[in-house]
Amino acid sequence: MCGITAYTGKGRALPFLIQGLEKLEYRGYDSAGITLVSNGELVTVKTKGALAALKEKLAQYDLDQHAGIGHTRWATHGVPSNLNSHPHTNLSNTISIVHNGIIENYQSIKEGLGMQGYTLASQTDSEVIVHLLDYYYEGDMKAVLRKVMSYLEGSYALCVVSVDEPDTIYAAKKESPMILGMDDTASFCASDIPALISYTKDMITLEDGQMAVLKPGHVSVYDGQGREVEPKFIHIPYDLEAAQKNGYDTFMEKEMHEQPYVIRETLRGRVEDRIIMPELDGIDLHAFDHVYFLACGTAYHAALYAQYLGREWMDIPITCVPASEFRYGNYPVNDRTFCVFVSQSGETADTLAALKMCLKAGAATLTLTNVLDSSLARLADITLYTCAGPEIAVASTKAYTTQLVMLAAMMVKLAYNSGYEVKDLDQFIADLKEIPNAVEAMLDRKNTMAEYARLLADQRDAYFIGRQLDYVNVLEGALKLKEISYVHADAYYAGELKHGPIALIEEGTVVIALATQKEVAAKTISNIEETIARGAEVILIKAPGIHSDKIERQIDLVPVHPYLTGILVAVLLQLFAFYTAKEKGCNVDQPRNLAKSVTVE
Ligand code: F6R
Repeated sequence: MCGITAYTGKGRALPFLIQGLEKLEYRGYDSAGITLVSNGELVTVKTKGALAALKEKLAQYDLDQHAGIGHTRWATHGVPSNLNSHPHTNLSNTISIVHNGIIENYQSIKEGLGMQGYTLASQTDSEVIVHLLDYYYEGDMKAVLRKVMSYLEGSYALCVVSVDEPDTIYAAKKESPMILGMDDTASFCASDIPALISYTKDMITLEDGQMAVLKPGHVSVYDGQGREVEPKFIHIPYDLEAAQKNGYDTFMEKEMHEQPYVIRETLRGRVEDRIIMPELDGIDLHAFDHVYFLACGTAYHAALYAQYLGREWMDIPITCVPASEFRYGNYPVNDRTFCVFVSQSGETADTLAALKMCLKAGAATLTLTNVLDSSLARLADITLYTCAGPEIAVASTKAYTTQLVMLAAMMVKLAYNSGYEVKDLDQFIADLKEIPNAVEAMLDRKNTMAEYARLLADQRDAYFIGRQLDYVNVLEGALKLKEISYVHADAYYAGELKHGPIALIEEGTVVIALATQKEVAAKTISNIEETIARGAEVILIKAPGIHSDKIERQIDLVPVHPYLTGILVAVLLQLFAFYTAKEKGCNVDQPRNLAKSVTVE
């Protein structure tokens, strides 16, 4: 997830570009850059680091050009560095581009360009675009951009400037957002509404496959065949503050709603009719005596999910331990141990310490993280990245569900590499590809979850119960509720209730029960009935086809493979925690006593 801005008009371009990047910094902040264009010359200034570093660098220049493009980066391919920062220019410095998205076929394009004598300066997927434009350019940028779009696989929002047309910006979009606007003297575009809202409230949303040509005060939109089409205008009824949260009141709500998109981005190029993870090629877990999954908090719950899949699919010893415990426990680690670290930030102190211990003991290590070039990513032998983009709310939502899908794909790949047959594999992969749509359907149940959350209005406690895989899901549901609503929440194995916790159930106690695993659903439903008999108010989340007449509040998941239900449950329980917190007037984005990245022990 990156942010892009562009401006052409009678005024100076730079102030627009910078204010836009400031509003988009939530989309990425590991490097930033701009290209300004004036007669015969492109001026590009870019740097690693946050936007402040770019502004400092720009202070040395006197830049009064009237057209330009800007970028703030969230690295996906290539570490944050000056060279990998956008914009990217062709060798003759006549064309410059900014890109948001992932070009899946960049390796093959790069090879083709190599054969034509092009050498790429960066490690990014994006740079191939500018060289392709250069290669095919014969004076008609609109035509060449359309041609290049037809070669690009993956997702992109693109802006292009060239010295040949100093007052023109070309923009194109596929699956990454692009919003355009204009006034009497200028036209502009950006990745998101906040960058434009101080200039106009009437905006054009570019659709997939469309291209736009921006001239001062005028925007033309073209379809994939190059035919001019009527632009689609939207009116934004809210102000800047609301716009930064995309119209939502809080970052958490916004981030929950980004899940279909970021899950799709995480699966992109990884899950086709088989799993594509070249990083894991050649890894046969039989080479190891033991596999550990190590993580903290929500990431630990994601790791428990991977452990569950591993145990279902393979007969290799797999253990999942909170990193904070592992580092002080006597766990055998040596050069026949494979250790997997899961961390959104890639900086969590306990997880990092556990990784260092494992490296010292000679173990093979793999990190799954959301932050490129983070400490965990740098140290591990292998790193896999989720594509959740920056997560600002303290409570993890989109980072967790992207971890789950990546771990699901990773465990299939490891099982395959290690010679195990995964039962119902085709169905599992087909459903994994459909997960973004299923998540969308769960988000549509928000009114039901808001209504159920009212049950907790006068309660201080809640109990989450489930069996097998559902136990992992209740752990995460309870954590989410605790951390943002301050309701004391416990997660229990449903079958363990009768061994003690059932003593806590009384009239009005709220029990959230999961029954998504057919083999054990009937048992869980008996446990639910035991709580109802003691006065509990039960909310049941279940897979379709599992029946219980006695439970008043039931919510069905859309049908997915039983090992993927946790992703959908997570979304419902995020909504449940969110609405409970709102109902109680809590600050959902910044809950008390918590920090986004726990870099202390
Ligand atoms: C809870 C949450 C935390 C983190 C934990 C680990 O919503 O976000 O429990 O999961 O602090 O953080 P990372 O994943 O950055 O290692």
